[in-house]
Amino acid sequence: MSDVSSHVDLDLREVEGFTANPYPSYEKLRAAGPVHAVRTDEFERVWLVVGYGEARAALADQRFSKQWQGRIEWPDGNDPIFANMLEMDAPRHTRLRRLVTREFTARRVEALRPRVQQITDELLDAMVPAGRADLVDALAFPLPMTVICELIGVPDLDRNAFRRLSNAIVTPTTPDQEREAVAAMGAYLGELIEDKRRSPGDDLMSALVRTRDEEGDALSPEELVGMAFLLLVAGHETTVNLISNGVRALLDHPGQLAALRADFDLIDGAVEEMLRYDGPVETSTFRFPREPVGIGRRVIPQGEPVLVCLAGADRDPARYPEPDRFDIRRETQGHLAFGHGTHFCLGASLARTEGRIAIRTLLERCPGLALDEEAWRPDWLPGMLIRGVRALPVRW
Ligand code: HEM
Repeated sequence: MSDVSSHVDLDLREVEGFTANPYPSYEKLRAAGPVHAVRTDEFERVWLVVGYGEARAALADQRFSKQWQGRIEWPDGNDPIFANMLEMDAPRHTRLRRLVTREFTARRVEALRPRVQQITDELLDAMVPAGRADLVDALAFPLPMTVICELIGVPDLDRNAFRRLSNAIVTPTTPDQEREAVAAMGAYLGELIEDKRRSPGDDLMSALVRTRDEEGDALSPEELVGMAFLLLVAGHETTVNLISNGVRALLDHPGQLAALRADFDLIDGAVEEMLRYDGPVETSTFRFPREPVGIGRRVIPQGEPVLVCLAGADRDPARYPEPDRFDIRRETQGHLAFGHGTHFCLGASLARTEGRIAIRTLLERCPGLALDEEAWRPDWLPGMLIRGVRALPVRW
C-alpha cells in the first residue's frame, strides 16, 4: 500500500523545462482534477489548486490560514520583516491593511499618474538613443522601484543593493543565503525606520511612524519594518514582470502588437490580458487548512501547505475559452493575477497604472521594438512564486 502521507501526483522537479514553461504541467494536472499533491524543489509535498473555480473559492476560504510560522521550515520566522499583513489572518491583518488602504485607492493612484508618466519619460529619454537595451534594467525595474520608494519616502534607497536582497528572499536560494538576506533586510529597514523617526517627511512611512507615536492604534517596531518590507518588495518584484512578461507576449504575437499600435485605446484590456496570460505571480503565497478541507474529490489534511496556482487557474478553459491564446481584446474579468478575497493585492490600481503607462509609452517611443535575438538568453527566475526573466534584451 502506498504511503498516503507522502503520496504526490506529480514531481515537478522531474518536469524538464518546468520553470521556462510551467503551463503544460498545469494543464495536465487540471485535466485530471482541480487540486493535486506535487513535489517541488523546496517541499516534499504541496497541494496545488489549479482549477479556476476552486482557486477563486480557496482564496476566499476562511478555513485556510496564512500563519506559516511553526508549520514550515523557513529562515528565522521571527524576523520583523515577516510581521506584515500578507503573513497574517484577521484581526491583525484587517488592522494593518486598514492603516494603508487609503494610500492605494484608485483615486489616490490617479493623482500619481503624472509622476508615473514623468518617470517613464525620463527613463525612456535615457534608453532610446542607444538603440538597444535590457528592458528590465532600463525601464521595467526602475519605474516601479522609483514610484514605490517615493511613495513610502525612501527616495535615496540603494536600489541595486535592495534588489539583490529582495530577489534572494522571494526566489529560492540556499538556506544560508536566505537567512543572510532576511537578516540584512530586517537590519536595513530597521535603520530606515529610525531615520524616519529622526527626520520625518511628508510620506507614508513617516505617517505610519507618527501613527505609532500619537494614536491609540500603534504599530510596533516590528510591524513598521514588516510594512516597509511588504510594500517595497510587493511594489516592485511584481510590476517589473508585468512590464517584461507583457512586452514579451506582445513581441511573440506580432498581430496583437500591431492591433495595439493601431489603437492605443486597447491598452487597458491588453494589460489585463497580459496579467491573465502570463502574470507576474505564478502561485499565491502559502495557505494552511485549519481543518481538513475537501476540494473536488480530494481532502487536504489539516496544516499541510497549499498553493493556489494563479497561473494555472487563469488558463482554465472552463473559464477562458482557448486559454493559451493571447488576445488583447478578450474578456478577462475575474482573472486571479492579483489574487482574490481579503488578501487581494493592495497595489492593483498602482500596478495597472504603471503597466499601462510604461508599455504604451515604450511602444510610442520605439516604433520598431523587437527582441534582440543576438543577446536573448532566457534566464528565468527560479521558484514558483514569481514568473519572469532576469533580463529582456530589446532593440528598435
Ligand atoms: C502587476 C503587479 C502586481 C501583481 C501581479 C500583484 C499580485 C499580488 C497577489 C497575487 C497578491 C495576493 C497574494 C496571496 O494572496 O497569496 C498580492 C498581495 C499584495 N500586494 Fe500585490 N501585486 C502587484 C503589485 C503590487 C504593488 C505595486 C503593490 C504596492 C504596494 C502591491 C502590494 C501588495 C500588498 C501589500 C499585498 C498584501 C495584501 C494583503 O495581505 O492584504 N502589489 N499582490
